Parts: sequence; C-alpha cells; structure tokens
Amino acid sequence: MPTIHFIQPNGQTTSLHVKEGNSIMSVCRDHGFEEVLAECGGSALCATCHVYIDADQLALFPPPNEVEHQMLEFVASERKPTSRLSCQLTINDQCDDLKVFLPSQQI
Ligand code: FES
Repeated sequence: MPTIHFIQPNGQTTSLHVKEGNSIMSVCRDHGFEEVLAECGGSALCATCHVYIDADQLALFPPPNEVEHQMLEFVASERKPTSRLSCQLTINDQCDDLKVFLPSQQI
C-alpha cells in the first residue's frame, strides 16, 4: 500500500498507508482531517475538498477534467497550479511517498 504524507497548514505531517483505488478525499475524511470538508460527497460540485499536490508529483494523476477545472475557480484558499479537488484523485500504485498539502480554508 502506498504511503501518503498529509501536511496540515501548521506543518504537522501525518503519514498514512492507504489502499489503492480510494480517493484522497475519502482518506482525509476517514482520518478526520477537518481541513477537507467534502460537502458534496465527491461529486465535484462543492470545491470544499481542495488540496495542493506536491509540484513534482502532479503527473501521478490525470490532469483536471473540465468540470474540476471550473470548480477550482471556487476554492476558498488561494488557487495554485498545484491545486486539485481531492475527490477527483484516485490513489494508484505510483502514489508511494506522495505529499498532499491541506489548505487553511475550504469555505
Ligand atoms: S467533495 Fe465536493 S468537489 Fe470534491
């Protein structure tokens, strides 16, 4: 199982072994990271599951589709080139050592 490092806004890092096939959003919710609200439950309709992916690891995922691209316009924290909706990111076998930065605000 890949190990993913979740970095909270205060710098605290939590490293978790996660199952492939889950979304990063569901891992955040299951682990109780309050930074990820995920109000729509993963339908790419709320933009409250915003995360930043380490810039060197963005290519581990397909680029945002048009819906995600549009929803990223509505994120509460600064939108950066590394911004993604975590509900649209499925953990795969290449994700070992992935760094996911949680934003300070979702609404
Ligand atoms: S959970 Fe709503 S957009 Fe990801």
